Amino acid sequence: FAFTPENEAWAKREIAKYPQGKEASAVIALLWRAQEQEGWTTEPALRAIAEMLGMAYIRVLEVATFYTMFQLAPVGKKAHLQVCGTTPCMLRGSEALIEICKERIAEHPHELSADGQFSWEEVECLGCCANAPVVQIGKDVFEDLDPQLFEKLLHDLDTGAPVKPGSQIGRQCSAPEGVRI
Ligand code: FES
Repeated sequence: FAFTPENEAWAKREIAKYPQGKEASAVIALLWRAQEQEGWTTEPALRAIAEMLGMAYIRVLEVATFYTMFQLAPVGKKAHLQVCGTTPCMLRGSEALIEICKERIAEHPHELSADGQFSWEEVECLGCCANAPVVQIGKDVFEDLDPQLFEKLLHDLDTGAPVKPGSQIGRQCSAPEGVRI
């Protein structure tokens, strides 16, 4: 693994934000940039980031395995859907969304669809409970979903039609700017 020259320069600026000896504070930002570059968080990327930050590999792995934002195996090329299954979303219908994932994508979480374009998993609260149920795709959160809206979202992602994060029924968004790093 190697960062692209542009990402390498960005990573150096990111690390320089922290005092000497505290470079490890940049670990989440670097992991996220590596994942954006590669599509998922590969072991060589984990090792390269450990080297850059002077951290033990196991410490970097601890961070990457703690946060569901990091994918440690290949994900769908078009989208990896993270369906919130915590109580508010569950009470508002997330189980139906998970059933659709099983039917349309793959039986089990983290499995790739037959064409390799989609994957899914159930995650814990994404912090947008007011507009439950919600699904996160990369940096974007799609809120106020129901089975029909979710099927349409999947269809639009598959066909390349434009999709709009935020409330799918026009309510004020819980995460208007999406989840940004
Ligand atoms: Fe789903 Fe909080 S419970 S966003």
